[in-house]
Amino acid sequence: MIIVFGSIGLDIVQSVRRLPRPGETVLTADYAMLPGGKGANQALAAARAGAAVCFAASIGDDDFGQRALVNLDRAGVDIADVARRGRPTACATISVDSAGENQIVVSSGANLETVAAQMNPKAGDIVLQQMEIPLPEIWAGIDLAHARGAKTILNAAPFQPIPASALAKLDVLIVNEVEAQMLGDDLGLGAAGLPGICAGVRQRFATTVVLTVGAGGAMAFSPDQTLQAGILAIQALDTVGAGDAFVGAFVAAMADGMSLADCLRWGSVAGGLTCLKPGAQDGVPERAAIEARRDEISITPISN
Ligand code: RIB
Repeated sequence: MIIVFGSIGLDIVQSVRRLPRPGETVLTADYAMLPGGKGANQALAAARAGAAVCFAASIGDDDFGQRALVNLDRAGVDIADVARRGRPTACATISVDSAGENQIVVSSGANLETVAAQMNPKAGDIVLQQMEIPLPEIWAGIDLAHARGAKTILNAAPFQPIPASALAKLDVLIVNEVEAQMLGDDLGLGAAGLPGICAGVRQRFATTVVLTVGAGGAMAFSPDQTLQAGILAIQALDTVGAGDAFVGAFVAAMADGMSLADCLRWGSVAGGLTCLKPGAQDGVPERAAIEARRDEISITPISN
């Protein structure tokens, strides 16, 4: 079982010709209200990839909360541990420009009421977390999962400093370029370059580090191998949620016992296909679509 412990919300998505500068107003014709939140997006991606997924999170007692759950419910995610709180469901305003670049502001609302005690991990489970809920609960979630013998995975998005005690309990840490650099700066590894930072974190904390680089593919630094993965040849329409789809499918592949190379293939296919439709969840692929294109992802071993 994969337990996703994290955020959920509703995304208000606006397509703009270009993103506004500070102090500037830009006009656009329409907007869409779509399910989102990094936790929910990752839970959906793992479930569509074929994994059994339980989601522990918080929503408000409102219409946004009901809308935010629709896709998870349809995909068969167990949402019994999603609590109703006395604060509004989280809401993100997302602007996407004509090149597919985006800008996101999240009002956290009920996500701030989420607590680690909502989940009940067991030995053999995988607990997947992001960083859109209160930090003490994230650290408590890692402690709980580790103590129960579950695998612990953290997608450090959006980045905030991570205590060494938490890093030491992670099985897998997943970061993008910005997050990797911030982590490196925080740990005094900032001058080492992104691969150097990831290799340094692997060595210091005996964890596997996965680095996603958008159109530059992804890299994995495990204690016994370093791999570079390519990308699908696609024309991206909207990159919102691509990172979440990568994480969800990567972890679904882990839960299936696949090799690190295949986990990268699954994550990379899911991330790529998600960019073909607007919003964070509509383009997230089903298992069959991932299997059909997994061989298009090149994997190159790099000497450690
Ligand atoms: O990663 C994309 C997600 O980030 C969006 O769905 C939005 O809700 C924000 O949390």
